[in-house]
Amino acid sequence: MASASFLSLLVLVAMASAVSAQLSSTFYDTSCPNALSTIKSAVTAAVSSEARMGASLVRLHFHDCFVDGCDGSVLLADTGSFVGEQGAIPNNASIRGMDVIDNIKTQVEAVCKQTVSCADILAVAARDSVVALGGPSWTVPLGRRDSTSATGNTGDLPAPTSSLAQLQAAFSKKNLDTTDMVALSGAHTIGQAQCKNFRSRIYGGDTNINAAFATSLQANCPQATGGSGDSSLAPLDTKTPNAFDNSYYNNLLSQKGLLHSDQVLFNNGTTDNTVRNFASSASAFTGAFTTAMIKMGNISPLTGTQGQIRLSCSKVNS
Ligand code: HEM
Ligand SMILES: *[C@@H]1O[C@H](CO)[C@@H](O)[C@H](O)[C@H]1NC(C)=O
Ligand SMILES: *[C@@H]1O[C@H](CO)[C@@H](O)[C@H](O)[C@H]1NC(C)=O
Repeated sequence: MASASFLSLLVLVAMASAVSAQLSSTFYDTSCPNALSTIKSAVTAAVSSEARMGASLVRLHFHDCFVDGCDGSVLLADTGSFVGEQGAIPNNASIRGMDVIDNIKTQVEAVCKQTVSCADILAVAARDSVVALGGPSWTVPLGRRDSTSATGNTGDLPAPTSSLAQLQAAFSKKNLDTTDMVALSGAHTIGQAQCKNFRSRIYGGDTNINAAFATSLQANCPQATGGSGDSSLAPLDTKTPNAFDNSYYNNLLSQKGLLHSDQVLFNNGTTDNTVRNFASSASAFTGAFTTAMIKMGNISPLTGTQGQIRLSCSKVNS
């Protein structure tokens, strides 16, 4: 090989490895030094006025990253000519907090014009939400850019009816391993779910459920489908619904997981020991959770000159 082409091969290899590690926690340090503090105070205010908003913002980042990467696509509202992800089954009448993100974006635009992406705001808001609810902190890699479209690949999101094997496959498709999957499911230590998503579990569809727990949930979740009861809410973690702690795993040990997809993690299978470990050690859980959140936040970001920095998170720039 001629030395000139060998050199260009080296440059290519160097560029390719740069592409796999492009995010950086110092990305806005000079371009927008107040970005992170602006996001944090807005998230803290939103969570103190409604604790559940912390859960909703964490979930929004998950639903962003699992559908075509962490590119802010989940935030794009439908228009006459554009159908985004918000109407799809896992999201419709379920994801929340898009208005909070829009409001944060307005505040961030006021300090730094068209500099901070919506995808990064989501990643930081998820971290700040966990902290606001008493959970661990971590350093968020930054530098994601926003999509100019949504391809609507919402089928990549796992369903509450998923089996353990289906959950493993859905996370593995995103390069997240089984430990990551069990740790990230621990986000269900906060927030709420609608009756239609756990009804079958509490009316005999599942046998791995504590009987008294099932009965108590039935009071606010009617067996008949199609009525307003479909959207009645129950906490995902009955014990400490608004605290980011490891009680989710302790619930699983007593067969008090709310969703079918929660209890499959402790059902005489290969993930039982991980659940036991996270239930008995808060630090084992927080260590695995923060590692996995960073991995999830690294799913296929747009970087460099890809995509755009949206001016408003709910629509692409005109
Ligand atoms: C393991 C597969 C998962 C499944 C099947 C699943 C499914 C669900 C479902 C069905 C709900 C209730 C939605 C509703 O009833 O409107 C929910 C809520 C929630 N999920 Fe998950 N989820 C999974 C993983 C995750 C992950 C990885 C995270 C974040 C790291 C997460 C965070 C949340 C939060 C915080 C809520 C409560 C949201 C709120 O109260 O607004 N989930 N999830
Ligand atoms: C979304 O939810 C609304 C309100 O529950 C419902 O009227 C609408 O038909 C749903 N849209 C889709 C696409 O399922
Ligand atoms: C797990 O297996 C044991 C022993 O076979 C059994 O007693 C228990 O009910 C099973 N638990 C679940 C959740 O299936």
